[in-house]
Order: sequence, then structure tokens, then C-alpha cells
Amino acid sequence: MILVFGGNGQLGRELTRASAARQIPLTALSRAQADISDRTAVHAAFASQRPSLVVNAAAYTKVDLAETEPEAARQGNELGPAIVGDACAAAGVPLVHISTDYVFDGRKLGAYVEGDPIAPIGAYGRSKAAGERAVRQATAQHLIMRTSWVYGEFGQNFLKTMLRLATTRDELRVVDDQRGCPTSTRDLADAILRIAPRLVARDEVWGTYHFAGSGVTTWHGFAGRIVAAQAPITGRNPRVTAITSAEFPTPARRPANSELDCSLFERTFGFGGRPWTEETDAITAVLAAEARKTPHVA
Ligand SMILES: NC(=O)c1ccc[n+]([C@@H]2O[C@H](COP(=O)([O-])OP(=O)(O)OC[C@H]3O[C@@H](n4cnc5c(N)ncnc54)[C@H](OP(=O)(O)O)[C@@H]3O)[C@@H](O)[C@H]2O)c1
Repeated sequence: MILVFGGNGQLGRELTRASAARQIPLTALSRAQADISDRTAVHAAFASQRPSLVVNAAAYTKVDLAETEPEAARQGNELGPAIVGDACAAAGVPLVHISTDYVFDGRKLGAYVEGDPIAPIGAYGRSKAAGERAVRQATAQHLIMRTSWVYGEFGQNFLKTMLRLATTRDELRVVDDQRGCPTSTRDLADAILRIAPRLVARDEVWGTYHFAGSGVTTWHGFAGRIVAAQAPITGRNPRVTAITSAEFPTPARRPANSELDCSLFERTFGFGGRPWTEETDAITAVLAAEARKTPHVA
């Protein structure tokens, strides 16, 4: 049985859906059911669920707010993973822990490989980097998956924001000087479920890997693809204008380049992420069609 923390998030909910479709036994606990920064709650979850694999999809993900709430970010992204890692070590259970491209500073010209030095430029990235260290220290049987620009049908994400704005605005102004790899939750959830048997079998694949949708774009390129995919469904076709990060100041700085090289994951497990363009088209079509049926949830 796979035990997921952070069951109510984008990835947590996708893992629940994907496991049900494949009839893989999986229990996903929300924060209300198990707060990972609460040692007693985490140990109680292990005792009641007796997992063969744990996936930590729980995280404090508010990139901008983290600048003014570093303690909340530390609880969710460093203390929590340390507690989950300790519990996994004590129970002899392997751990999949999700991390982020924002552990890098974005100054590299090409795609980041796992061994590149990390140097986060914001509080969120620093807390996630500390979480990686905590997991490595807590348990040898870990697989840290760094992913990026996550979107899907559940929860809040950039794709949903663009869809909402496309219905209300004639122009979307989107930053074009940050590069990255959009990654769908269904791609990420599928990958976790596909590699799970090897982890449960204690195959020696432990360590840190990059996993993201294939291809690279900017937020502007991502937005343009979303708008183009929803236009035939909604009849809305706003202009998508490229702007610089300086024209759209945010409390947290973000890396200018966070492209992830995923070839280590591909070599190790024999598959990689699907093209971000195809995933974006497919998920946009689902969400835009839903929003047309029930416009009040757009
Ligand atoms: N979203 C992205 O673009 C992105 C990019 C790169 C990497 N990642 C990583 O991918 C993973 C999954 O992210 P996501 O997009 O699915 O995030 P999400 O939708 O924000 O979900 C995170 C979930 O974790 C829960 N949570 C927060 N603190 C918790 C705690 N102390 N104990 C238990 N649960 C807690 C949240 O609950 P509440 O809502 O109640 O706080 C939320 O349901 C995270 O590790 C994230 O850092 C995400």
C-alpha cells in the first residue's frame, strides 16, 4: 500500500485518481488528516496504514508568501520532510519526496543536471533545498524527484489562472524571460506509480532525479499554448503579450532558467515526461469544456 502525504494538493489528488484507475492500493491523507510537521500524526499514519512506500506530496508551495512566512515554509518544507524521512527510516519504508527546480539560481545557460550546485534565490527554494537535505540525512532509501511548473485539473495552477483570465480579458501580459519545463500532474503521478514497484523491491535506484514534461518554454510561451488550445472551445482569443520580469514585480525572485535535464531518470527507468505541449492541449481542453458547461466555476 502506498501512503501519500499532501493528499489534497494538485499532485496528491492526481495520485488518488491515477491509482484508482490502475487499481493500485493507495491512501492519500490531507493535511487535516496528517500534518507532516506533527511527529505524532505522522507516526499514527504509519501505524494505521502500514505502507510499503511513502510519497511526500505535501509542501508549502506559496512562493511569494514564503518571503514573509519563512517559518511556515520551514515547517512544511524542511521539518515535515525530516519527520516523514525519520518515520520511513524507522519503519524501513522507502520514500519518494518531491522537490523543485527553484533550488537552482537560474544562471546556468543550459538544462540543469542533478549534480549542479544548488543556490536558491528565494525563501521557498531555500526551504525546499533544506527539505532535500533533511530527507537525505533521514533515510538512505529515498528518491527525490525535482520537478517544475506543475499544472493539472486539480487545485490551483498557472494553466487555470490563464484560462480564467482568457475569459475576462482581451490581453494577457505574461513574462517571457523565465524558462522552464511545464509538468502535468498526470505525467508526474504516472511516473511515481510506474517506478513504485522498483522502490518497493529495494532496487538500488536511490538518489535525486529530475522529472519534468519534455520540452522547454517561457511563461509567455506556456500562456500562448493555453490560450490557443481554449480558443476553439470558448470562442475567446485574447492577445498574449510578452513582458519582462521587471515589468511584473513579485515578492519572490524566480530563476531565469530552470530547465531540468531529465536524462538520468530516463536512463534509469526507461521513460520520461510527455511533451508539455500535448499535455497542455489535453488538460486545457478538459478544463475549458468543463468551464463552458458550468461558467461560474471558470
Ligand atoms: N506547483 C508547482 O508549480 C511546483 C513546481 C515544482 C515543484 N513542486 C513540488 O511538487 C510537490 C506537489 O506540489 P503541488 O503543486 O501538488 O502543491 P499543492 O497543490 O500546493 O499541494 C500541496 C499540499 O500540501 C499540503 N500541505 C502543506 N503543508 C502541509 C503539512 N505541514 N502537512 C501536510 N500537508 C501539508 C497542502 O495543504 P494546504 O493547502 O491545506 O496547506 C496542499 O494540499 C511539492 O513538493 C512542490 O514543492 C510544485
